[in-house]
Amino acid sequence: MSAVSAVRMALNRALIFLGPPGAGKGTQSRRIAERCGVPHLSTGDMFRDAITRGTDLGRMVEPIMKRGELVPDDLVMKMVEQRLSQPDSANGFVFDGFPRTLAQAEQLDRILARKGFGKPLVVDFTVGEDLLLRRLSGRWTCSVRGEIYNIYDAPPKNAGICDADGGKLIQRPDDRPEVVKERLAAYERQTKPLADYYRRQGVLDTVNAAASVEEVGRALREILKRAEGRDGHL
Ligand code: AP5
Repeated sequence: MSAVSAVRMALNRALIFLGPPGAGKGTQSRRIAERCGVPHLSTGDMFRDAITRGTDLGRMVEPIMKRGELVPDDLVMKMVEQRLSQPDSANGFVFDGFPRTLAQAEQLDRILARKGFGKPLVVDFTVGEDLLLRRLSGRWTCSVRGEIYNIYDAPPKNAGICDADGGKLIQRPDDRPEVVKERLAAYERQTKPLADYYRRQGVLDTVNAAASVEEVGRALREILKRAEGRDGHL
């Protein structure tokens, strides 16, 4: 277990990270999930895994992701429901990149109610487009366990090799500039409205995601502590 997870926190609910591509949701959600001892559920990672394994789902979603569009809600929800039926999510989970449409958010509300969870805690990562483009163009990801690096801000010790497990680092096909443009447009059109949806429910916090990884991490821990003080769930 890494130093960042030295102090265990209990979660007992769904923590949702909203934000545009490259905002740092994956980087932070992996750390928080480890710290809380709950699963990190990235729908993007799950689809990429299905593509790598060559499953039917992978074959269906690969061309959609290559274009930078969102996968249809029914495919997303089926995959998420299956994942949440596993026993490891009994103490909560961190969602990274889900929900991404109003329909997904409404269905998630129903699933959480059915599973006896209270309202989720939702954090919106805000960051300007210039920084997003720089982060996505500099991102390299471990092909073994998905550790995230950046050639500008968080380079590996040895170029092309993961510090944690020695895996080969790869660039995501959807980080090409023309696909990034489509992903940002899909975010603006279909996902950004979710911030209002959760604000109306009184469960939305925001974090300045333009800050360093450490500063964003500190801000997230403060949000978790505040939520604990507010309703004692954590
Ligand atoms: P997904 O895999 O979810 O991608 P995304 O949401 O576009 O987000 P990213 O993974 O690109 O960015 P991130 O915010 O996680 O940033 P990261 O931490 O890596 O989705 C991919 C595709 O799958 C979608 O386009 C869609 O087709 C499909 N899909 C997935 N979920 C779906 C859903 N629910 N519905 C429909 N379709 C779905 O950081 C980026 C870089 O910045 C890294 O190099 C990192 O090292 C660096 N960095 C991070 N934080 C900082 C910081 N604070 N300072 C400096 N550098 C930083």
